[in-house]
Amino acid sequence: MTPQPTAPDAPSSPFPADFLWGAATAAYQIEGAVAEDGRTPSIWDTFSHTPGKVLAGDTGDVADDHYHRYAEDVALMKELALQTYRFSIAWPRITPDVTADALGPVNEAGVDFYSRLVDELLAAGITPAVTLYHWDLPQALEDAGGWTARSTAERFAEYAAVVAERLGDRITTFITLNEPWCSAYLGYGSGVHAPGRTDPAATLAAVHHLNLAHGLAASAIRAVRPDAAIGLTLNLAWVRPASDSAADAAAAQRIDGLQNRVFLDPVLTGTYPDDVLEATASVTDWSFVRDGDLALIHTPLDVLGINYYSPTLVRAYDGVGEREEADGHGDSAASPWPACEDIEFPAQPGPYTDMGWSIDPRGLTELLLRMHREHPGLDLMVTENGAAFPDAVGPDGQVTDDDRIAYLRDHVAAVGDAIAAGAPVRGYFVWSLLDNFEWGYGYSKRFGIVHVDYATQQRTPKASARWYAGTIRTHAAS
Ligand code: FCB
Repeated sequence: MTPQPTAPDAPSSPFPADFLWGAATAAYQIEGAVAEDGRTPSIWDTFSHTPGKVLAGDTGDVADDHYHRYAEDVALMKELALQTYRFSIAWPRITPDVTADALGPVNEAGVDFYSRLVDELLAAGITPAVTLYHWDLPQALEDAGGWTARSTAERFAEYAAVVAERLGDRITTFITLNEPWCSAYLGYGSGVHAPGRTDPAATLAAVHHLNLAHGLAASAIRAVRPDAAIGLTLNLAWVRPASDSAADAAAAQRIDGLQNRVFLDPVLTGTYPDDVLEATASVTDWSFVRDGDLALIHTPLDVLGINYYSPTLVRAYDGVGEREEADGHGDSAASPWPACEDIEFPAQPGPYTDMGWSIDPRGLTELLLRMHREHPGLDLMVTENGAAFPDAVGPDGQVTDDDRIAYLRDHVAAVGDAIAAGAPVRGYFVWSLLDNFEWGYGYSKRFGIVHVDYATQQRTPKASARWYAGTIRTHAAS
């Protein structure tokens, strides 16, 4: 038999035909309009208005003014060929009068904004993927204990059901929480995020109530919309020990437990890891975990969202000299890590992004393959990946962000490697569509593939946006 010649244009892309390419944002980072149409304050309004908490005193009061410009922004997404868009819903717009005891009435004007956004997306042929909680807890709930209180998880499930009822006819993917690690460890541990508390025991109570919130919300959404795909987005860490010493290996295991397994295990296996419970016994007895909670948390997960930016390097701290704390999670006298005084985070090799985060795409492949190995059959999505660089609009009106193109190209290739090795990765979302309010760093860090001039609100697609549109059109990074 004569061998068939390979067609010169045979597709070599590892990305399956139904792979979805998108971009992600979050409500408080882009919307603005914080006091409009009945919205009440969230913990990020309070935090950003507290002097000294956010760089340069920046707040999300106006942000990208997306609340008013959503139609223009969807048109931009269409121009960039986006197939899917991950955005978050601001809970204080949906039930602004929520208290620890009751959800309160639904604010129709708040629902209407998201309803119009979803319609606009669908008309543009873009599939919406909704995150129900991207850190903007109603302030009234924080005043009643925030995520350290069980009632917050209960009210969250009720709010999730409202969103599923009102929007679930047009939205099929609901991601309950974004990065509960950050909500708990940065919000209640190091205090660099809202609500700015620094209490290790509160951190772990928050972990559990966030897990519970996920489980309760997943069931509540399914009760209303049995066909909805339920997701959870975690910022999983690719944790590496600084050496092959037993002490460094144990340090890496502890951080892996506190960042990855304390969220993965309850959701996917219905247990808390024994080593995490033991390592944190000096901080809490975990008595906030009630009988039956783990069964509520261990509810089927349709898709695991992974946010990846940078690797994590850990070393056992010998108590001599200054403890290195280059974990990339901001500056605070309080550590985000409960019961980890004997662990340090050494500086990592460059190159770095503008956040000072080490660039290493291997971590993304490793994480995807680990999830595939440890939880076979679980669909995966990269729900955030991207980089801040100090972009500027040039005299020609262009933003030439070759560094971001290189970052994205290498990370997309890393996803392709994982797919080629068998990982069921269903989509990839660039963080972020627009430059926006980068939490404690305010407007000083630009993650967008679209530049935003905050004085005029003018949007300028960067070179990376055009590169990404090309990647989407050809289904392969070039
Ligand atoms: C993630 C957040 C997202 C954004 C990026 C840079 O941790 O989910 O809102 O701030 O980091």
